[in-house]
Amino acid sequence: MSQDAQKVPYTTNNAGIPVESDEHSLTVSPDGPILLQDHYLIEKMAQFNRERVPERVVHAKGAGAYGVFQVTNDVSQFTKADLFQPGRRTEMLARFSTVAGEQGSPDTWRDPRGFALKFYTEHGNYDMVGNNTPVFFVRDPIKFQDFIRSQKRRLDNGLRDHDMQWDFWTLSPESAHQVTILMGDRGIPKNYRTMDGFSSHTYLWVNAGGERFWVKYHFKTDQGNAFLTQEEADRIAGEDPDYHRRDLFDAIAGGQAPTWTMHVQVMPFDDAPDYRFNPFDLTKVWPHADYPLIEVGRMTLDKNPEDYFIHIEQAAFEPSNLVPGIGPSPDKMLLGRLFSYPDTHRYRIGANYAQLPPNRSRSLVSSYAKDGAMRFDAAAVARPYAPNSYGGPAADTARFGEPAGWASSGEMVREAYTLRSQDDDWGQPGTMVREVFDDAARERLVSNVAGHLKDGVSAPVLARALQYWRNVDKAVGDRIASAVSGG
Ligand code: HEM
Repeated sequence: MSQDAQKVPYTTNNAGIPVESDEHSLTVSPDGPILLQDHYLIEKMAQFNRERVPERVVHAKGAGAYGVFQVTNDVSQFTKADLFQPGRRTEMLARFSTVAGEQGSPDTWRDPRGFALKFYTEHGNYDMVGNNTPVFFVRDPIKFQDFIRSQKRRLDNGLRDHDMQWDFWTLSPESAHQVTILMGDRGIPKNYRTMDGFSSHTYLWVNAGGERFWVKYHFKTDQGNAFLTQEEADRIAGEDPDYHRRDLFDAIAGGQAPTWTMHVQVMPFDDAPDYRFNPFDLTKVWPHADYPLIEVGRMTLDKNPEDYFIHIEQAAFEPSNLVPGIGPSPDKMLLGRLFSYPDTHRYRIGANYAQLPPNRSRSLVSSYAKDGAMRFDAAAVARPYAPNSYGGPAADTARFGEPAGWASSGEMVREAYTLRSQDDDWGQPGTMVREVFDDAARERLVSNVAGHLKDGVSAPVLARALQYWRNVDKAVGDRIASAVSGG
């Protein structure tokens, strides 16, 4: 029910006790002091003081909605995952976001967009926590914190700073592919409905016969791709900072439920060791000529949250939520993320975050977890330890005992992925600039980069940035150099 339509007979306090007034505190005579025994006033003030949970350390500003995922093709030869079986319909939640800005930041800032999905499957929650870009800035999780800090605020003046951003990027050439996407048209989608989503990472799929496949997910918007120019985005940032959140909510409320068609690229398990670049490197895409898109199903977002805080702010997506039939790949970034998300949820929302409405599994939960702050579901077990002789659940190893994994061996090292013939950082962004962008898109890229570089970037960092772009594409680099110097 919409909140506007709710008819509530009278106000109560949090314990359900009818309150005496919404207007006046309890005082000694109209002009006298407030009384400590006005526990309703105290409850209101105390509750207000505790309204905030910390915002997400990244992806703080977002929007989300519930929906459904409908399988439209038979991919059961690649995975036994319940939600991808023929004909299956699975309820889900989606949250889209910007990355670096805070809760109140404008939706139209240039930034990748988060594309986080939670599927309520028969074997628990499956979370696909991707972006609107198929690659990422770094390929080792030990650099993620540094990367994000270069995008956030300076220690001294509390300001965001283009010098920090280009300093980090130019010292991290593996960022070139993602930075090219970011500075191009996909850097500012027109709205959340008109952008694609990607797993970015490679995942492992396992079919009922135990065969393994490497996959990347692509969610293609059925609304058509659309973007904002820098000028449009700057104007909207001033006029309506919540432009994308408003658009998603209004479209769904107006009956225009957005949809995305999900495809996968599937790489046979044994192709990976000899592929010409490391297929698990998050800064690379797999050419569609090698691994074409295979349709899987359609996602429709048709239900707005009735309470934004409960359903979207407290939504806890976690790449470690992988269900039978789906596993991680050797992508080091993904492996790092498997730890990071549940950890941040325990800090941001609390130990029992999995019990909250957007996060609770809609299938059986029979874990041995107990107690902790804000626990409100009784444990599903009579004795809180396993094994027990009081009817407690036991792991069904015969059904679920085979982990979706791969073999690995070797000495412990701190080293980059072993280089293969096409593992350079400039090749794929160069191809994108020359072969995917048309003249108009290249011109916008040049203008976006030059505008960014003209804003507070120091001379040594600027010199490195111009070389960075010449490494991507000599002609584009030269054009950026001349645009920066006013030519
Ligand atoms: C949010 C960590 C890389 C997509 C977050 C959050 C953390 C985090 C701590 C906040 C979560 C919350 O408070 O709910 C990391 C680390 C990474 C990494 C350590 C690399 C090692 C990535 C990559 C992608 C991604 C590569 C996309 C492919 C997202 C999205 C959200 C998010 C979409 C927002 C989820 C939501 O809507 O609640 N990340 N991240 N992250 N991250 Fe990452």
